[in-house]
Amino acid sequence: MAPAALADLALPNEIPEVKETEANQTVPNLFSLRGGTTLVTGGGRGLGLELAHAVIEAGGCVACVDILPHEVVEKDIAALKSKAKLAGLYASYDRVDITNEPELEAVYASVISAAKEQRKPLQGVIACAGIQQITEAVDYNVPDFNRMFNVNVTGAFLTAKHAAREFIATGTKGSIVMIASMSGRITNRSLKCSAYNSSKAAVLQLSRSLAAEWGPQHGIRVNTLSPGYIRTAMTDKLLHDEPEVHETWMRGAMLDRLGAPQDFKAPAIFLLASGSAWMTAADLTIDGGHTGWA
Ligand SMILES: NC(=O)c1ccc[n+]([C@@H]2O[C@H](COP(=O)([O-])OP(=O)(O)OC[C@H]3O[C@@H](n4cnc5c(N)ncnc54)[C@H](O)[C@@H]3O)[C@@H](O)[C@H]2O)c1
Repeated sequence: MAPAALADLALPNEIPEVKETEANQTVPNLFSLRGGTTLVTGGGRGLGLELAHAVIEAGGCVACVDILPHEVVEKDIAALKSKAKLAGLYASYDRVDITNEPELEAVYASVISAAKEQRKPLQGVIACAGIQQITEAVDYNVPDFNRMFNVNVTGAFLTAKHAAREFIATGTKGSIVMIASMSGRITNRSLKCSAYNSSKAAVLQLSRSLAAEWGPQHGIRVNTLSPGYIRTAMTDKLLHDEPEVHETWMRGAMLDRLGAPQDFKAPAIFLLASGSAWMTAADLTIDGGHTGWA
């Protein structure tokens, strides 16, 4: 018997068509954050601050939160705010410890209400705040180990939880991006940081678990972005204390350099915007090829 022409194939009625999706747009729109606000934890410096700039460049408003005092971030946040103003957008900064839930909840309430006033509702979150500590496992004490998990895992969880509450309440198909690390998947040569690596592995699993809870019914997406070695204050201290580490890191650098915060602008915007509409519970590793070696 001759095979049926495609046009003749009648699917059973119960199999739904995939019609219009959020990704049915032109490419510039797939990378646009116009019309919404993104909250960035760890937005006072380093990678978080760079990603806050990226949000503005993608047409979105941004609310940075960080534990750093206002006077420390003043200059950088002023520059971010004037960039936003020039683009007809707004940027804000709030000091908060992401491990303190009542404090974080209050900041969320004020960010959400300001965003609504500007008619730029909360649509995305980048959970970027994190800490690192280099200590031999045999010397790692419980308060330090717990602190690592409290900031990197519980803090990221609370950040996602309060965003999701708002997305669910308003029916927003928001996007949550958690900054994990290649260290959640591989172990770093020459770095004694068992707590950090385990905390980032937990972030990878947390993200998948939240994606599974909030994807069905609510359409909320949760993904991770896993950087390799980036030159920021976090790594500068280590390179200052142990300069030989640079050589070890460079041995894994397929592209002959370490990462810069700007290397994560496009990946972060992709994960926040509608271009990644069908991506959730996934990890995007950007590491200059580091984890590609055997
Ligand atoms: N630098 C790297 O090589 C590298 C590699 C992989 C992943 N990362 C991850 O990227 C993220 C950003 O790191 P970075 O390199 O920009 O370091 P960073 O130290 O410059 O930035 C981290 C920010 O988090 C903030 N923060 C820490 N604890 C907080 C708390 N309890 N509440 C609120 N804010 C808090 C800090 O004040 C700081 O501004 C981190 O999650 C880090 O683990 C960094």
